[in-house]
Amino acid sequence: MPDSKLGIFFLGNTNRIFVPQFFKMSKKRVLSCIQPTGDMHYGNYFGAVKNWVDMQSELECFYGVVDYHAMTMPYNVKKLRNNTWDLIFNLLAVGVEPENLFIQSLVPEHAELGWIFNNFAAMGRVENMTQFKDKSLQSKSGKEGFISVGLFDYPVLQAADILIYKADFVPVGKDQSQHLELTREIAQRFNNQVGKEYFVLPETKYTATPKIMSTADPLRKMSKSAGEKHYINVFADDQRIRKQIKSAVTSSEEKMSAGVKNLLELLSACGHHDQTKELTQAEMEGTLRYADLKEVVADALIEKSSAFRAKREELLENKKAVKDQIKVSSMRIRKVAQQTVSEVKELVGLLNVKF
Ligand code: AMP
Ligand code: TRP
Repeated sequence: MPDSKLGIFFLGNTNRIFVPQFFKMSKKRVLSCIQPTGDMHYGNYFGAVKNWVDMQSELECFYGVVDYHAMTMPYNVKKLRNNTWDLIFNLLAVGVEPENLFIQSLVPEHAELGWIFNNFAAMGRVENMTQFKDKSLQSKSGKEGFISVGLFDYPVLQAADILIYKADFVPVGKDQSQHLELTREIAQRFNNQVGKEYFVLPETKYTATPKIMSTADPLRKMSKSAGEKHYINVFADDQRIRKQIKSAVTSSEEKMSAGVKNLLELLSACGHHDQTKELTQAEMEGTLRYADLKEVVADALIEKSSAFRAKREELLENKKAVKDQIKVSSMRIRKVAQQTVSEVKELVGLLNVKF
C-alpha cells in the first residue's frame, strides 16, 4: 500500500529508499460499501457501483461488502455467507478490481471503531435517519415484528466504514446523503473533542443518475426490498430484462411521465447519449412511441448484462482462487484500518498495547 500513495517518480519498492517529502504525492482515497442482501440491480450499478469502477484508475479505492450491516434486518443465518461471496463475484464481474475489495467481517476494526463512534454520535440525529424509519416499519411488519438495536446503530457503523480509511470521497446513491451528513458530524465532533483535525470530512460523489426508479412503479426507487418486479437484476437473462422493460409503466397525466423519464435515464446511463437526446426530443414533440423506447432500452441493458454474465461465469470457474485473492486483499486492507484504530485509541484515552 505505501507504494500506491507515492507519485510517479519512483517505481518498485520505495520503502527502503529515501523519498523526499516533496515527491510524495498521495492519491485521494475513496471508500464505498454495499450490503450482501441479495441480487445486484441496475439501481445499485448506475447509482453507485459504476462510479466505483470508474474511480479506480485515478484514486486509491477501498470497496467493502458489509456483512455486519446485513445482520441488522431479520435474515437467514444459513444464507449470509453465500450472499457475501455471491456479491463479491458480482462486483468483480462488473469491473471492480480484486485488490480494492474487502469483506467487512474480515476487518473487525470497523466494529471497534463503530463502538467508539457511538460516543460521538448524537442520539437525536441517529433517531432521525429516514433509512431507519423505513426499515423499522418494514421490520415491524415482518413475521417477527422485531426491530434490532443494530438497525438503529447502522449509520454509526457506516461512519466507521468510511472514516477508518480516512476517505476523501464516497460514491453512493442519493438515498445515502443523510448517512454521509451524519458521518461528517461524527468526524467533526471527534476532531473537536480530541483538539485536532484528525479525520477528513468525506465528500459524497453521485453518478449522473443517483436515483434510479422502479420500472414497475416509477414513483418509488428501484430496490430489492420492494419485491422482484421493482428491480432489474444486473445478471438477469435477456428475456427477463426485455419482459421487465416491456411492462414498464409509462402512462401519466404529466407531459413527460416519471416512467418515461426513468427509461431515458437508464438509456443515458448505458452510455447511449445521442440516442437519449433524440428520443427526449421526440417525447417533447409528442412523437415518441413508447414501444420503440422500450425496445431500445431493453437492447442497451441486455448488451451490458450479457457481458457481465459472461465475466461472472469466467470468474466462477476459478472460484477458490478468487476467494483466496479476496481474503488476501482483505488482510492487506485491514492493516490500514488497524493503523487508524490504533491512532484513535491513543487520541481518546484507551489503552493501546500490542500483544
Ligand atoms: P444497497 O443495495 O442498499 O446496499 O445499496 C448499495 C448502493 O447502491 C448504495 O450506494 C445506494 O445508495 C445505491 N443505490 C441503491 N438503490 C439505488 C437506486 N434505486 N438508485 C441509485 N442508487 C441506488
Ligand atoms: N448504507 C449503505 C446502503 O444501504 C451501505 C453502506 C454501509 C455504505 N457502509 C457504507 C455505503 C459506507 C457507503 C459507505 O446502501
